[in-house]
Amino acid sequence: MTYTVIANFKMNGTVGSTIEYGNELFDLLFENELYNTTIVMAPSAIHLAYLQSRLIGTRIKYGGQDLCGQAQFGSHTGNTSAEQLADLGCTYSIIGHSERRKNLGETDCIISNKLSNATLARITPILCVGEDFTENREGHTWKVIKGQLDVNLAKFDSTAKIMIAYEPIWSIGTGKIPSLQDVQNVVDHIADYMQGRGLQAELIYGGSVTGANAEELLMVKNLSGFLVGGASLKVSTFWPIIQACEAVGKQIKTQSA
Ligand code: PGA
Repeated sequence: MTYTVIANFKMNGTVGSTIEYGNELFDLLFENELYNTTIVMAPSAIHLAYLQSRLIGTRIKYGGQDLCGQAQFGSHTGNTSAEQLADLGCTYSIIGHSERRKNLGETDCIISNKLSNATLARITPILCVGEDFTENREGHTWKVIKGQLDVNLAKFDSTAKIMIAYEPIWSIGTGKIPSLQDVQNVVDHIADYMQGRGLQAELIYGGSVTGANAEELLMVKNLSGFLVGGASLKVSTFWPIIQACEAVGKQIKTQSA
């Protein structure tokens, strides 16, 4: 089992702090071989090259935080295209994060176009889905997520790779996480849904993941990693999440040997 842990820096960091981060992470990776974890770094696109320059020789992968759904090149001021991300060495991109859905009015249709453009440029989309607090309390979690998937995946090529991040909106940046049973229910629903549509996805969880809860969350069956916001901003809080993945991955290998 290899886990994928994605660091979403959101709109944080400076050139200086990104370089410092890269140096610190490089030292840890130099001393600790990772056997069960793939790290994907998604800093601001403008800082990507600085981070990459510090992590040369590591197996770190890179991702964008968003991409343009309309075109690969052209008159789209302020946008970054999937082709441009690929050109920068990215193999992943977060798509449909709830902050973009909410603050920028990104609709399910727009997100569907972004998924198509990602796959055309061989970028693996990390599609974010999840319910808000009220929807959760009223028992509509799966209904909301299914509605998002129905439209987001409408044009999705069944041969393309995709990751789906279950991110309950009420959990993002709040320190609150759902019960393991609730995460398991959503993961099972998404897995069944994807199978029913002849699609395959790696399923991950995001929302207040820390070094203190990562190991427990990995008890959820078929969960293959995390999308991490706040705790990814410092190497000292990000690294324990990697260590949790390494520890659980090792346990699983020992049990099945
Ligand atoms: P958080 O953010 O880890 O700070 O809760 C997660 C996310 O927004 O993807």
